[in-house]
Amino acid sequence: TGLTTLDYGFVNTAATRSSITYIDGEQGILRYRGYPIEQIAQNSSFLETAWLLIYGELPSASELADFDEKIRRHTLLHEDLKHFFSAFPRNAHPMSVLSSAVSALSTFYEDSLSVSDPEQVELSTVRLLAKLPVIAAYAHKKSIGQAFLYPDNSLSFVDNFLRLNFGTYAEPYEVNPVVSKALERLLILHEDHEQNASTSTVRLVGSTQANMFASVSAGINALYGPLHGGANEAVLSMLGQIKESGESVQKYVERVKNKEEGVRLMGFGHRVYKNYDPRAKLVKESADEVLAALGVHDDLLDIAKELEQIALSDDYFKERKLYPNVDFYTGVIYKAMGFPTRMFTVLFAIGRLPGWIAHWREMNTDPATKIGRPQQLYVGSPARDFPTR
Ligand code: CMC
Repeated sequence: TGLTTLDYGFVNTAATRSSITYIDGEQGILRYRGYPIEQIAQNSSFLETAWLLIYGELPSASELADFDEKIRRHTLLHEDLKHFFSAFPRNAHPMSVLSSAVSALSTFYEDSLSVSDPEQVELSTVRLLAKLPVIAAYAHKKSIGQAFLYPDNSLSFVDNFLRLNFGTYAEPYEVNPVVSKALERLLILHEDHEQNASTSTVRLVGSTQANMFASVSAGINALYGPLHGGANEAVLSMLGQIKESGESVQKYVERVKNKEEGVRLMGFGHRVYKNYDPRAKLVKESADEVLAALGVHDDLLDIAKELEQIALSDDYFKERKLYPNVDFYTGVIYKAMGFPTRMFTVLFAIGRLPGWIAHWREMNTDPATKIGRPQQLYVGSPARDFPTR
């Protein structure tokens, strides 16, 4: 078929230009809008970083205050949307609940669905940023059989989210500043990562001029898989299985190397990073700090460190340039904060939301955008006659 090249997994094909995030996988460099991730993680907040990603420059103090205020004003969910949560089975995975509820947002906010009216795009942006954490917290509350709390808009973005997850009507809830700071840092580290599977999904769906809620809901579903965002949950299951089985870490690594079916070192390897993932470095620091500050000792962190040490000195992993990725240590931290394992990928989704929005908006305003429509190489039967009956 003429000029068509076959590129499974888009290993060599750029589907777009973008000025949001820069990655150098060989050197382990990640920058948002030119700023190194290490400096952002040290100095910025989640919402300031969101603004940077979405609008391209750092906000002034008043722009940031205004953005924060607007998001606080939109945290309430429509009361009817809350009925959704009781319609799901109690053991529903919160990622499925999240994507369904985000998809449903487009039915409640038909006034902000236009993709060509900048004011409506702005309104959808604010609504998504404000409501996604609330939906996520309600999915959590539902799974543990507790009442939903209303948001408290006097609290910051992260503190409000923590209270919605861990507060109850029975007792006053005080946010632990160690947890709040660490969660904010983790969310910042997840905010964007150029054309990963979920962001590419958001762009592909958005390229049909589908609204932002529909596009982001599709992105959440792409993130769900264990090879993408679902890896943070899969890492914890893997560490738990190693602990429970009593198998040595070395033995588990052997099984990975022998490519036993279904056995991979979850949280290791990356399509782009062929050197240490710069985010993983920062997450590992946080894991030590947070567990120490909370006074938590977790055997799973010891197992993770041992796994890393063994893998990094093993030729199998060296030859394939497999290093820990962002998901390797996050689960241990989320667990110490009190989140159930099934919420881990939901936390990734909240972190990634500003990136999805930034890419949707970039795609939507780039005059070069065309509907995404990959080619295929047909390898099926040649033309043949259907039997006459
Ligand atoms: N454990 C064991 N072997 C691995 C792993 C791993 N985690 N990752 C890659 N390999 C091997 C793979 O078997 C192959 O070996 P060989 O050449 O002998 O066949 C080689 O390394 C290349 O792997 P690949 O699957 O072709 O690489 P890819 O770029 O298509 O996949 C990946 C990237 C992230 C899907 C993969 O490394 C993986 O499955 N990792 C585990 C899941 C994970 O941690 N995902 C999170 C990614 S980072 C953040 C995010 O998106 O959430």
